[in-house]
Amino acid sequence: AEQVTGRAPVPAELADGPFLRACRRESVSHTPVWFMRQAGRSLPEYRKVREGIGMLDSCRRADLVTEITLQPIRRHGVDAAIFFSDIVVPLIAVGVGLDIVAGVGPVVDEPFRTEADLERLRPLEPDDVPYVTEAVGALVGELGPIPLIGFAGAPFTLASYLVEGGPSRTHARTKALMYGNPGLWNALCGRLAGISSAFLQVQVAAGASAVQLFDSWAGALSEADYRRYVQPHSARVLADLAPTGVPKIHFGVGTAELLGAMGEAGADVVGVDWRTPLAAASARIGRDRAVQGNLDPAVLLSEPSVVAEHVERVLADGASAPGHIFNLGHGVLPETDPDVLTRVVELVHERSARPA
Ligand code: CP3
Repeated sequence: AEQVTGRAPVPAELADGPFLRACRRESVSHTPVWFMRQAGRSLPEYRKVREGIGMLDSCRRADLVTEITLQPIRRHGVDAAIFFSDIVVPLIAVGVGLDIVAGVGPVVDEPFRTEADLERLRPLEPDDVPYVTEAVGALVGELGPIPLIGFAGAPFTLASYLVEGGPSRTHARTKALMYGNPGLWNALCGRLAGISSAFLQVQVAAGASAVQLFDSWAGALSEADYRRYVQPHSARVLADLAPTGVPKIHFGVGTAELLGAMGEAGADVVGVDWRTPLAAASARIGRDRAVQGNLDPAVLLSEPSVVAEHVERVLADGASAPGHIFNLGHGVLPETDPDVLTRVVELVHERSARPA
């Protein structure tokens, strides 16, 4: 199948909304807000539609993907939707044997360790993920002026799951491969970059308005090693998306030392976790990129006055950046009360409202 690098013209009401304007560092009527992991997890209506259906099966059913993506839009009034899927979906689509185990995360049948394992990572074709094209198309119609964010996992984070065989605290085997056999490491990350790039292009071709590349575990690396072993592969994914013109968000956890390098990988917006105040983060990233973040997700388990105080602080810090998209510093915790998320959206909108 041919690679599609463009998308249909974007309606003005969509392109001019606060989320896409903030991505471009333009003035906004209010600070836009959405939450990583807003789809799923904390919502009772999510648990209801998922009853008896495995996580990966639900990602491959366009009707369920559409419904679950829309649930937080209806409930919270957020300024952007994130496509309901998972970073491992494109890996399964090219035939990698793995499952998502509830409460654990992705678990790989046969971990990747040798040259021979590369054969198990063929390129992703749009025809491998018809349910993605179908769901994005349906969503764009339903969402109207609300932008849809497509996403993929970055090569390092995907490689970590493949090499470790599951979640890892130290990423020791991944680093052993990276330091010990850079040739194989680069070949592995090259294939993963191709798969992530293709997965994002499918979503954009079908109508996604922005993309987020998740390198959740990149914070395990020093800046020097990140630049040497990881950044070129992430940069290639982001460069492949450049012809589409959609804004590119790049996010990781524990990345205080990497923020500049992650921006330089080719992001328009850099996601920041709660450890680094947004003003300091923006100073590291530079005036030519916006920031996204960074309320500590655990704050949402506190009483309303504490939540409000932290929301104000994030907004005040974000105000010094050339563009700010309000978000959490990582995903919504499963035990979060959904009403607290709705209240945060209202607070962000009220407190950041600016006259036209
Ligand atoms: O709302 C959204 O953000 C959209 C959907 C989304 C999911 N995963 C759905 C999901 C997104 C953007 C992701 C990205 C993802 N998946 C990342 C990067 C973001 C991050 O949080 O750092 C990573 C590292 C993964 C891998 C993964 N998948 C993990 C660590 C887990 C959690 C395991 C658990 O149960 O705690 C998953 C499973 C997963 N992905 C769930 C959802 C809704 C939970 C599965 C379920 O409901 O049974």
